[in-house]
Amino acid sequence: MRTAVVYYSMGGNTRFAAEQTAKQLGAALIQISPVKAYPDKGFRKFLWGGKSAVMGDMPELEPYSFGGGDYDRIIICTPVWAGSFTPPIRTFIEENRSALEGKEIAAVICYSGGGADKAIAKLKSFLGTDSLAAELILTDPKDKPSPANDRLIAEFCEKLRG
Ligand SMILES: Cc1cc2nc3c(=O)[nH]c(=O)nc-3n(C[C@H](O)[C@H](O)[C@H](O)COP(=O)(O)O)c2cc1C
Repeated sequence: MRTAVVYYSMGGNTRFAAEQTAKQLGAALIQISPVKAYPDKGFRKFLWGGKSAVMGDMPELEPYSFGGGDYDRIIICTPVWAGSFTPPIRTFIEENRSALEGKEIAAVICYSGGGADKAIAKLKSFLGTDSLAAELILTDPKDKPSPANDRLIAEFCEKLRG
């Protein structure tokens, strides 16, 4: 199945998970980034990112290359921000609604300990779907490398390979 792994990452954890997943599935890797980067240090990092996620912002994205017709399956990878998925991923979904229609969708969620289930529920709701092909929840896989995270990534890819 032709698969695209689409990710937003501020601190590299989601990038790590996206890279591993794309490698194991032989998938295309597509990074999205907001034109106006979020503060990535100190208190402002949580304040601005958290507020933007809660408000349901859709920040403008840097140009990215995503030909929806080129893929049968899209794996959306996002950190959890304030119990939600991230604003750049919200923009990506909104910009590609028709391309995502009828595609198999899976999700990779990175977090540090709370709100992943809520983030997945919100992601599904925004996608307008009750279920995803597969869901992977990882605890800071780059900052806290662990055999458990590696195993979860491998199992996720195995499930998608069918
Ligand atoms: C603005 C902001 C809000 C966050 N909110 C949560 C949260 O609600 N729950 C949680 O477990 N982690 C939260 N985190 C931590 C990240 O989800 C976690 O560290 C994730 O692995 C970071 O991915 P990244 O390195 O790809 O950016 C938050 C981080 C930021 C920057």
